[in-house]
Amino acid sequence: MSVGIIGGTGLTSLDGLEITRREVVRTPFGEPSAPLIHGTYRGHDVTFLARHGYSHNIPPHQVNYRANIWALRHVGVDRVIAVAAVGGIGDDYAPRRLVIPDQIIDYTHSRTATFFENDLDHVTHIDFTHPYDEGVRQWLLQAARMAGVDVLDGGTYGATQGPRLETAAEIQRMRRDGCHLVGMTGMPEAALAREAELAYAHCAVVANWAAGLEGGQPLSMDEIRDHLHYGMESVRQLIGGLPRDGEA
Ligand code: HPA
Repeated sequence: MSVGIIGGTGLTSLDGLEITRREVVRTPFGEPSAPLIHGTYRGHDVTFLARHGYSHNIPPHQVNYRANIWALRHVGVDRVIAVAAVGGIGDDYAPRRLVIPDQIIDYTHSRTATFFENDLDHVTHIDFTHPYDEGVRQWLLQAARMAGVDVLDGGTYGATQGPRLETAAEIQRMRRDGCHLVGMTGMPEAALAREAELAYAHCAVVANWAAGLEGGQPLSMDEIRDHLHYGMESVRQLIGGLPRDGEA
C-alpha cells in the first residue's frame, strides 16, 4: 500500500523522506509536473510529487492535472494526500491552521477536467456528492491526533482559476456560497482522482485571510510565506503521525 503526496506551494520536498528512486513517468496526457520521488517516510512507502514543479514554476492553471493523477495511479499509489495552500474565508479558518475539508465548489474554467473525453464507448459520470474520500480524511484526522497537531475537520474548499488572487467582492460571494477556504489547485485534481479511482483528500494550510477580510489591506507575500512556512511544518508532523495499516 503506497501513499501519494502531492506537495503544493511551500512543500516542494519532504524533509526526512528516505529517497529510494526518482522516476520520470510518461503519460498519454503529457508530462507530470516533475519526476516522482519514491521513498519511505517514517515507515510509510511514499511517492512524492511537486504539483508546481521542483522549482515552483508551474502556475495553478497550467498544472497538468491529468498527467499528475495518471502518473500516481500508474505507479500503484492507492491513497493520495493533496497538500494545498489556501486563503481563509470562514471565521475559524485563520492563517496557519490546518484543515481537512469535506466539500468543494468549483469556480475554475478552461481547465481540462476529465479523463473521459476521447475514444469513449459510453459516457461516464462519476459520483462526486462527497468529493473527498472519507477513509483518507479520517486517516489524516487520526494522524493529526497522534502527532498532536491541531486541525479543523471539515469545510468547503472553493477552487478559483488564478493565478491572480481574488477581489474582495469575489470573496464575499464565495462566503455567501458557503466557502470556508479558497485555493487555486483543488480542481480538477480531486475530480480526476475520483475518475482514476484513487482515494484522495486535501490537507489544506491556511496561508492568509482571503482578499478584503483584513480591513481591505493588500495581501502581503512576506506574511503569506511566513504563515505557510509554519503551517507546512505542522503538515510534516501530521504526515509523520499517519497510522500504518492495522494501527488504531
Ligand atoms: N486565494 C487563492 N489561493 C490561495 C490564497 C488565496 O487567498 N492563499 C493561498 N492560496
